[in-house]
Amino acid sequence: MTLTAYNHVRIPSFMYGTAWKKDATTHLVQLAVASGFSSIDTANQLIHYQEALVGEALQALAKQGITRDTLFLQTKFTPLNGQDHRTPYDASADLTSQVRQSFDSSLTHLGTDYVDSYVLHGPYSLRGLGAADWEVWADMEALYQSGKTKMIGISNVTAEQLTQLCEQATLKPMVVQNRCYAALGWDKEVREICQAHGIIYQGFSLLTANRDVLADPEVRTIAKRLGTAPAQIIFRFAMQIGMLPLTGTTSQQHMKEDLQAEHFSLSTEELQRIETVAL
Ligand SMILES: NC(=O)c1ccc[n+]([C@@H]2O[C@H](COP(=O)([O-])OP(=O)(O)OC[C@H]3O[C@@H](n4cnc5c(N)ncnc54)[C@H](OP(=O)(O)O)[C@@H]3O)[C@@H](O)[C@H]2O)c1
Repeated sequence: MTLTAYNHVRIPSFMYGTAWKKDATTHLVQLAVASGFSSIDTANQLIHYQEALVGEALQALAKQGITRDTLFLQTKFTPLNGQDHRTPYDASADLTSQVRQSFDSSLTHLGTDYVDSYVLHGPYSLRGLGAADWEVWADMEALYQSGKTKMIGISNVTAEQLTQLCEQATLKPMVVQNRCYAALGWDKEVREICQAHGIIYQGFSLLTANRDVLADPEVRTIAKRLGTAPAQIIFRFAMQIGMLPLTGTTSQQHMKEDLQAEHFSLSTEELQRIETVAL
């Protein structure tokens, strides 16, 4: 199954996330692909990700005949405030150079000459968008225009910032990646903007940010009806309301279980109940 953004590029409907995998990244990416995932999320940010090890996994997969064109690769430009001293760019360079250096370094890490999606890890401004945000977004647009990335996106964005971007940018984002809290209606405001603009909403930390939902008696009853676990119910719910979920599991059993979410359905009443479970 795939989701299609307003620029007609498609993304597989469930993505494997590589944050916090450290040295296990190479093995886990291969395991995820062997289990059925065909899209991988990473970032050029050594605090949380090992992008070069994703590249090692891709090399190993290529030797097994799983070629680059069969995989969807997404990585991110992480501004200085999200990096430690190991920046993948000259921290004293201007922002445009930082984006270019980070992007080129990502291509080297991943052993490819293009990415499927390139995401700004987060705006520089806490509220609204400032000069740095606009400068970097223009660089993202230029990368898209160059054909080196098939999509551009933004992460950790508020509804206000996304609205501004959609209204004022030359190119609005094709993807948004946000932490998704049930207590905020599963990021309802941002999701609605995405839906109105043909932007693919990617939700992360669906399980870790919503432990209460996993333990909710009604969610457990729904899971029982379907003979599945609460985690799959959350992922299925995400898919049925139009979201692209990420999973960060380190277990092959969970990888396979998570992917099962593509193969059953929740009723309208169940969707409504889960949508409002934490409100
Ligand atoms: N843009 C950003 O700023 C940002 C920030 C954070 C994350 N992300 C992206 O989102 C990805 C996912 O984030 P996340 O790791 O927080 O997601 P998550 O899937 O909500 O959390 C992973 C946790 O859920 C558990 N889990 C997964 N499937 C399970 C299942 N079927 N049953 C029980 N437990 C299960 C995992 O345990 P096991 O390992 O034991 O399965 C792990 O502890 C990251 O890897 C990264 O790519 C992006």
